[in-house]
Amino acid sequence: MHRITLINGDGIGPEISQSVMDIIKASGLEIDWDIQTAGADVIEQEGTPLPKRVLDSVRKNKVALKAPVTTPIGKGFRSVNVQLRKELDLFANLRPCKNLPGVKTRFDGVNLVVVRENTEDLYAGVEKQIDDDTAHSIKIITRGASERICKFAFDYAVKNDRHEVCCVTKANIMKLSDGLFLECFRKISQDYPQIKPREILVDNLCMQLVQAPTRFDVLVLPNLYGDIVSDLTAGLIGGLGVAQGANIGLDCAVFEPVHGSAPDIKGQNKANPTALLLSAVEMLKYIGEKTYAVKIEKALFKTLSEGFKTSDLGGNLSTTEFTQKVIENL
Ligand code: NAI
Repeated sequence: MHRITLINGDGIGPEISQSVMDIIKASGLEIDWDIQTAGADVIEQEGTPLPKRVLDSVRKNKVALKAPVTTPIGKGFRSVNVQLRKELDLFANLRPCKNLPGVKTRFDGVNLVVVRENTEDLYAGVEKQIDDDTAHSIKIITRGASERICKFAFDYAVKNDRHEVCCVTKANIMKLSDGLFLECFRKISQDYPQIKPREILVDNLCMQLVQAPTRFDVLVLPNLYGDIVSDLTAGLIGGLGVAQGANIGLDCAVFEPVHGSAPDIKGQNKANPTALLLSAVEMLKYIGEKTYAVKIEKALFKTLSEGFKTSDLGGNLSTTEFTQKVIENL
């Protein structure tokens, strides 16, 4: 039996985690979940939002499914998500973005993948208050991390029968930092003659994504642009409730949705579990349980195609009712 760490998060995290555990169980696949709490709720007892036991558990089990964890804005503790990715060296954040059956959106045929660098850039957390009126945040881009993520993007393209990798920067303005990222992309692209390399500035990318998203295939971006652009691409396929993701490193992988803890709908049985479920489907493929992964994905797609949806997709089902429909379709 697989032992997998489950970080069940806060906000809507516990509700959608329960839904996903119920669906996987109903599929017939037995998972020994190693449930680990993290975030604001554990600070009082353990003095940190990310206790060592959580990291130890992921290191030991090698695979984790993670629901969202709240990060206080402007003050308070450092993001558990950023810390987790950094501590476990989960350098690649993979966010596939493809239209779902039954979810009508502005564009058909969207099928792109955001590959976001996960360990540095402005998310390194190197910030300094200079005086009352000035704060500095340092953007860190290194050759090692940039080459590694570009190589990951090209390898992903080869393995997944993709044809193009597009490097997204603002190298016209940040000539040294984004310039280095672009230089690394150009160098790595030479090792993959079968994949077309393409370059675009992030502002132009955003404009083109909302006009013609089918023009894009694999995108590789430094951390901050990747974070922002992947919310935009989530919007192209029906919103945050359906956007899946994964953080991949050399030793372990943490699968998690793009969305946050959605405090506005916490505890109301309203959250859409689809994004976490699709992240779990990718996780099952990753651990070699492809048959169950496909079975669950089919049941989910059937449910959506039949018009059963949570309110974020214009439906009227609660989290638990939607979960039940997916289980019936398994
Ligand atoms: P959010 O993604 O939590 O919510 C944005 C909007 O989308 C809200 O209206 C919410 O109700 C809706 N939404 C999100 N997920 C949904 C779902 N599954 N079903 C239905 N509606 C859904 O973003 P927000 O409000 O900016 O962040 C809230 C907290 O989450 C913050 O503390 C933030 O730092 C944290 N966060 C955590 C992440 C993680 O754990 N990986 C990722 C992004 C944000």
